[in-house]
Amino acid sequence: MVNKIAQGAEAIIYADDAIVVKDRFEKTYRHPDLDRRLRKSRTRREGKVLTKLSEIGLAAPGLIEMDDKEMKVRMDLVPGDMVKTVIDDLESAGDAAGYVKLCREIGEKVAVLHNNGLVHQDLTTSNMILHAEKKEIFLIDFGLSFFSNKVEDHAVDLHLLKHALESRHHRIFEKCFAAVIDAYKKRADKADETMSRLERVEKRGRNKTKH
Ligand SMILES: Nc1ncnc2c1ncn2[C@@H]1O[C@H](COP(=O)(O)OP(=O)(O)OP(=O)(O)O)[C@@H](O)[C@H]1O
Ligand SMILES: [Mg+2]
Repeated sequence: MVNKIAQGAEAIIYADDAIVVKDRFEKTYRHPDLDRRLRKSRTRREGKVLTKLSEIGLAAPGLIEMDDKEMKVRMDLVPGDMVKTVIDDLESAGDAAGYVKLCREIGEKVAVLHNNGLVHQDLTTSNMILHAEKKEIFLIDFGLSFFSNKVEDHAVDLHLLKHALESRHHRIFEKCFAAVIDAYKKRADKADETMSRLERVEKRGRNKTKH
């Protein structure tokens, strides 16, 4: 049976048994040519990145089919809850060790992504699922991702993650981000360089708001 499981800004997500279909619908406010180009490139991107992730063995949905005519990506369903709600529940239960552990895992996963020249671009706890049986975090939503080994791109990815944590988990944000960074540093190939670039990225952000 087909169930609509989510309606994002860019796509409708259906689940059919163990398969998820991400259907990038038309955005009528965009010029039709631009709209097709964007939907096509994001659909292809998602397919390409999911293939790469399965090659490197990073936990993400397996790609079943990428259709850049229908603008659909078929992938394995990842059973489990969104990391956002898991962290919220752990926070409510006062289980700091629980959410710190998850944040460390996020830091490790992002480091592996970067070590393999991948930038997610939309790292939020809504784009992560804690696998119900494997108890491992699976990353999803790679439509905006791209391939880059640039320290700048990696630092911006972390910067966006920091802001996502700050807005979605504001009461525990400091602890969460510290755990992400600590784990990232241990695992990332270019940790030192990326950390100092992150400082520069943040400084740039602060200067921008001042002027
Ligand atoms: N492979 C999958 N297995 C299980 N659930 C999934 C899978 N892919 C997507 N989902 C669910 O659908 C939601 C939206 O998917 P996704 O983030 O890829 O699309 P989106 O349109 O970019 O959404 P948004 O822009 O709102 O983040 C996810 O938050 C998740 O709940
Ligand atoms: Mg998403």
